[in-house]
Amino acid sequence: MSLNNNWNRDILAKAWHFATIKHSGQTYGGRIPDQYIEYINHLSSVAMESMWVLANSNDDYNADLLLQCALLHDTLEDTPTEYHELLVTFGPDVANGVQSLTKNKTLINDQDQMLDSLQRIQAQPKEIWMVKMADRITNLYHPPYYWDKTKIAAYRSEGQVIYDHLAPADALMAQRLADKIEAYQQFL
Ligand code: NI
Repeated sequence: MSLNNNWNRDILAKAWHFATIKHSGQTYGGRIPDQYIEYINHLSSVAMESMWVLANSNDDYNADLLLQCALLHDTLEDTPTEYHELLVTFGPDVANGVQSLTKNKTLINDQDQMLDSLQRIQAQPKEIWMVKMADRITNLYHPPYYWDKTKIAAYRSEGQVIYDHLAPADALMAQRLADKIEAYQQFL
């Protein structure tokens, strides 16, 4: 019997509040023209995908680590938050996990940025690998209305690269990602 539902609600409420403040005012492209979605929708989707795996897996995971990083995973990449603030607020495991999930923008091209991040994720606990898979699962729900077919095809291929690097972390999460990569063909 797994204890994966044994997460601390106060720890998660703190991360959810922090992420909501940091991403305040941000939106991303929706499914129909001129539609924009509140950024925190993405964060809650990543947490939701993670919770489903926690609830259905027989493996024991650090649910607090997984869910905090799910909620905070874009704070370094997409907001003015700095590593030190995550470190003092949430501790080293969360700060290091989020750091690995953050692209190094000094690398020139997108492919190098992705491969560098994937290598740093692989040096982290499996929970961090799972956040990256959950992130891509949610981003494969539907492309933003303004993406063309070339961009959509490239994004699908990149999803396969993520799968190839991170699938060993968890079979349920990996299957969900594989299903979403397959289904993404409908947008091509
Ligand atoms: Ni994300």
